[in-house]
Amino acid sequence: MEQSKIRNVAIIAHVDHGKTTLVDELFKQSGMFRDNQAVSERLMDSGDIEKERGITITAKNGSYHYDDHMINIIDTPGHADFGGQVERVLRMADGALLLVDAQEGPMPQTYFVLKKALENHLPVIVVINKIDKPAARCDWVVDQVFDLFVKLNAPDHILDFPIVYASAKEGYALLNPDDEIVDGGSMECISRMIIEQTPAPVGSVDAPLQMQVGTIDYSPYLGRLGIGKVVNGTMTINQPIAVARRDGSLTPVRITKIYRFECDGKVSIESASVGEIVAVAGMDDVNVGVTFTDLANPTPLPLIEIDPPTISMHFIPNDSPFAGREGKYVTSRHIGDRLEKEILSDVALRYEPLTDAVGFKVSGRGELHLSILIENMRREGFEFQVTRPQVIMREDDNGQVLEPYETLTVDVDELYQGPVIEKLGKLKGQMEEMTLANGMVRLIYKIPTRGLLGYKSQFMTDTKGMGMMAYVFSEYGPYAGDIINRVNGVLIAKETCVAVAFALFNLQDRGYLIVKPGDPLYAGQIVGEHARAADLVVNPAKGKKLTNMRASGSDEAVILVPAKAMTLEDCIAYINDDELVEVTPQSIRLRKKPGVRIRS
Ligand code: GTP
Repeated sequence: MEQSKIRNVAIIAHVDHGKTTLVDELFKQSGMFRDNQAVSERLMDSGDIEKERGITITAKNGSYHYDDHMINIIDTPGHADFGGQVERVLRMADGALLLVDAQEGPMPQTYFVLKKALENHLPVIVVINKIDKPAARCDWVVDQVFDLFVKLNAPDHILDFPIVYASAKEGYALLNPDDEIVDGGSMECISRMIIEQTPAPVGSVDAPLQMQVGTIDYSPYLGRLGIGKVVNGTMTINQPIAVARRDGSLTPVRITKIYRFECDGKVSIESASVGEIVAVAGMDDVNVGVTFTDLANPTPLPLIEIDPPTISMHFIPNDSPFAGREGKYVTSRHIGDRLEKEILSDVALRYEPLTDAVGFKVSGRGELHLSILIENMRREGFEFQVTRPQVIMREDDNGQVLEPYETLTVDVDELYQGPVIEKLGKLKGQMEEMTLANGMVRLIYKIPTRGLLGYKSQFMTDTKGMGMMAYVFSEYGPYAGDIINRVNGVLIAKETCVAVAFALFNLQDRGYLIVKPGDPLYAGQIVGEHARAADLVVNPAKGKKLTNMRASGSDEAVILVPAKAMTLEDCIAYINDDELVEVTPQSIRLRKKPGVRIRS
């Protein structure tokens, strides 16, 4: 494809603001689907869980032709937990399409992705989507978006961003929200604007080859795929080239398979030139950040940073006599092999065997990142137990302990703001902004990730199910808690110790959660959360039924919870048949299981 006719545009948005719907519609209207392909198959989201949850997990690409041009759409993950990936895929783009919901306005992920796009100096086209919604408030949303650009110090020429108003669902886009929709409308003005406002890729065909792998994909048929943009030169099948790796080494290779992304799948090609986004197959050890470069004149591109994990969980095999053994894959070896496969395509994921127990410590970018992996594995027939997520602490050069912080945005009816503000304060959140519009309050907080783990159910209770909360990783900041325990060299926060003052084991299909109070807020919260699902709450020491730990004055509660009612946020620490882990603010130790009598 002629370089001047290529447009590489990243589509960025907060989760659910309509990226997939918009891209499907652009593809559909371009007429590039094959006849037998149901358009309703949401092409950009191909994983099962993605379809069900409607979120884009791994960035994928697709292209279509419009008016003599090839428009490459670069999809970006819709959730902040995969933030590192957003940055990497933005490197392939020459412009960005920022989608904002016409009712909700900018959300934390909007801020995050726009910030990244501006850092990459990408010109931005703003698409106010879902204007068909009865509660759409386009003027307010445009004002909010403008404020966001100002807040992010966008230069003047970027502040003058072009705007399109769209209903991706109904398949039309307008330059003015009051324009008439003619013949059911079309999205052409978006494609036209992409061609006009997004520059063609720069780079020289005559320069030595440079193509950096920005994402990794894995296909059972093609194996590992390294995806990136040809920044300079040309890449041809069988051409001898070099792979420049992170450690500075160069390996000579021959490329055997190159694919281009059409909107209905990958198409094998003989060569790719400047500006094209391609997948290179046939190299099992290729990883994010490597540069394919000229063998005679190697010029690697600058290294790509991969964000370190912020959250970890333990995956404990389920092959004990207590466990149901229902799954197809229950052993440690099964789990280890599966995790090994996962890290082939997910560079933000890490895992290591536990040193003091059977199982693995799995680390990733947030709760959602790990919970999607867990759900995928469960669907594939894996049965295992997971511990409550823990934040990963760090130390700076002066030995000061740091913990991850999130930027949290909540929208609540003003009637319910009191309890929300009170709880967020207790969770060490610092309010950064508070705005009121139409009886709804929008609050923006900087808050330790730790505080938000498991907070959602409390939030929904406090807002009578009507509140909205979303958060995005912000930065590592000073640890805001009171006590830190160091266990085997690992820093564990007080709240974690208390909240995870647990031991959980399965007996038939029941699980026991032992809670030790320490900080009444957290202990009370856990009991509260589980008491709803619990059949029976007993105190093993006194053998009597407990419903309110604080009221009873007991120092320990055992809650009997139907295993099915347990969520990923439950702490499940299975060690062996006789022992369990006890975590208190002072210690973590193994102890004998209590002789719990189940009373009916
Ligand atoms: P992620 O992949 O998670 O980032 O989400 P997304 O941004 O791709 O959102 P998606 O396209 O899955 O749309 C989210 C929801 O909004 C779906 O229920 C869509 O049907 C709906 N939606 C998308 N566009 C429109 C629109 O123009 N109008 C209305 N009313 N709903 C829309």
